[in-house]
Amino acid sequence: MSNHPLFKKHIEKASRFQLRKPTPNKTNWDTFYKLSSNENMLGASPKAIDAIQKAVSGVYEYDFYDDFQIQDVLADFYKQEIKSGQFITANSGVEVLEIICRGLVSVGSECIISSPTFSPYKNIIELEGGVVEDIPLKLPDYSLDIDGILNAVNENTAMVFLTNPNNPTGTYFTKKELDRLLEGLPKEVIVVYDEVYFHFVDADDFPYAIDYVKAGKNMIALHTFSKIYGLAGLRVGYGFTTPEIGEYLNKIFRPFRIGTLSVLAAFAALKDLDHVKKSQEMVWEGKKWLYQKFDDLGIRYWPSQGNFILFESPIPSLELTSKMLDEGVMVRPGDNFGAPGSIRLTIGTQEANERFVEVFTSLLEEA
Ligand SMILES: Cc1ncc(COP(=O)(O)O)c(C=O)c1O
Repeated sequence: MSNHPLFKKHIEKASRFQLRKPTPNKTNWDTFYKLSSNENMLGASPKAIDAIQKAVSGVYEYDFYDDFQIQDVLADFYKQEIKSGQFITANSGVEVLEIICRGLVSVGSECIISSPTFSPYKNIIELEGGVVEDIPLKLPDYSLDIDGILNAVNENTAMVFLTNPNNPTGTYFTKKELDRLLEGLPKEVIVVYDEVYFHFVDADDFPYAIDYVKAGKNMIALHTFSKIYGLAGLRVGYGFTTPEIGEYLNKIFRPFRIGTLSVLAAFAALKDLDHVKKSQEMVWEGKKWLYQKFDDLGIRYWPSQGNFILFESPIPSLELTSKMLDEGVMVRPGDNFGAPGSIRLTIGTQEANERFVEVFTSLLEEA
């Protein structure tokens, strides 16, 4: 560690974000299926692609000086039930998390997370000097430890990060559970409610953030254009919260934050209800089909509300992912998320799912 006097101690101490290997060159395989990053395997919204193509020659110009237009469009999309100033818009969901932590985490303040979960939370919190308190999900079903969270809260607690449905487990907690947690939290503690996979939910008792924000709860919801809209590479995300928190966090301003093509693609994607519907159907049908295959093979999996399934690897997970990659099927070991011995599979098109099962079955037979 260097001793340069300008270096901030909490940045020096922060855990380094774990870098991934780049996606291999897909042309090295006859068929390649990337089922490792929970992207939309149906691809980008066609309306978004069309909007990008129409606008591409204009990229020499600065556009969208501020995010107000995006926030207005989102407010209309939410039928003005959430007002423009309640949205926090940024260059990806991850950047919204950075804005939240920049605004609300002080050196020494505590943030609760529940592992295994989305790995960037820890790094983003620590880069602002926050201390991460991990109250792990409870095995065997990865349920949220509500009492554990409530017991961990103290006068230094700033925020509780909840991921619903959770990544990488796909598990969820119900409205009743969230209500109990919110009731027990001191009123100054803010809940970051990451529901970036909410479009894939089919459970009746799922608690949608919009109802809580509308009710004035101390909550910041997180959404993204990277999942159902298929725009992961364009990096657009947004949060929505109470007018008070929205006004405060929107002071963290940067001119021309979101690129023109990303903004226009996001506007078009919001209107592409057909793509949303087709993507949901692909995931719901694929999920049922994959559950059946896992059942037939005697593989344990966790029922998922996301566009992915976590399953127990019958052979060491790193070995299995590496052998699958040799066959052109890329899946992600749960180990990096804190779920050792498991594998996260993104639900794909029927063709991709079938190829996964084919390769997986042949590796099981070899083992
Ligand atoms: C739980 C969760 N939250 C947030 C994100 C951030 O998405 P993005 O930065 O692409 O908007 C992801 C992406 O995989 C995620 O899984």
